[in-house]
Amino acid sequence: MSNDNASPTPGWLKIVGLGPGDLEYLTLSAMEALGEATDLVGYGPYVERLPIREGQERHVSDNRVEVKRAREALDLAVSGRNVAVVSGGDPGIFAMAAALFEAIEAGEPVYKSLDIEVIPGISAIQAASARLGAIIGGDFAVISLSDNLKPWSVVATRLEAAAAADFVIALYNPASKARPDRIRDAFALLNRVKPPETLIIFARAIGRPDERVTITTLGEADVSVVDMATLVFIASTQTRVIERDLEGKPNWVYTRRSVPIEAVEP
Ligand SMILES: C[S@@+](CC[C@H](N)C(=O)[O-])C[C@H]1O[C@@H](n2cnc3c(N)ncnc32)[C@H](O)[C@@H]1O
Repeated sequence: MSNDNASPTPGWLKIVGLGPGDLEYLTLSAMEALGEATDLVGYGPYVERLPIREGQERHVSDNRVEVKRAREALDLAVSGRNVAVVSGGDPGIFAMAAALFEAIEAGEPVYKSLDIEVIPGISAIQAASARLGAIIGGDFAVISLSDNLKPWSVVATRLEAAAAADFVIALYNPASKARPDRIRDAFALLNRVKPPETLIIFARAIGRPDERVTITTLGEADVSVVDMATLVFIASTQTRVIERDLEGKPNWVYTRRSVPIEAVEP
């Protein structure tokens, strides 16, 4: 006896990190998932730059609708499709993986029965640190400067604590058209707790053709160059610049892994 009302066999859902740039940092697992998926889901500019094979469908959406996009991707997988949800950098860092698990937690019970895999990608902080040398060679703190999903007072408290604890700090989402001034607020706060000679790095569009790295200091930094494609580093007291003074060869920036006792006990 046939059962026309039987539920379809569910497909799978993979949340795939694309790395920071033009796909040269894609992992083999990510490539495999993108090749096997029947549906590619994500923010327009990410999905559109992926090669597509016959039979594959693209589903593009706006960057501000992550949980809605997650629900749509889950529904596709429930209906039997094999879905790759793509995310820039690493999908677990200020990105789609958390949005997906939020949708699973609050959504249909059937979502919990799906095969879900998070495929890591190289995050902007890793690519930028590698470009510079080894700025996250010691302890570091990572903060999103966006106050879209949390109050600014939370961002400010975390930034101040990380600065006081002498972490190397990486600021994701430092500015956008809708939030042009939070980076100024952040630098005003840092100026109150750190000396003006503190090293600052603006690592912009790392791994892309318009990549630009600016090495400056807290006292001299011009935050007007910071945009949504920039990762901002605030150095610790153990961060060093190795000057090379060689045509076409940039200086290296690294953070020592050791902290001498004199640095903490006067
Ligand atoms: C919504 S977060 C996504 C982070 C991403 N999941 C990752 O792991 O890199 C976007 C922020 O990441 C940083 N970012 C992403 N790609 C970058 C790149 N190629 N160069 C520098 N910063 C980048 C910027 O701070 C940007 O505002």
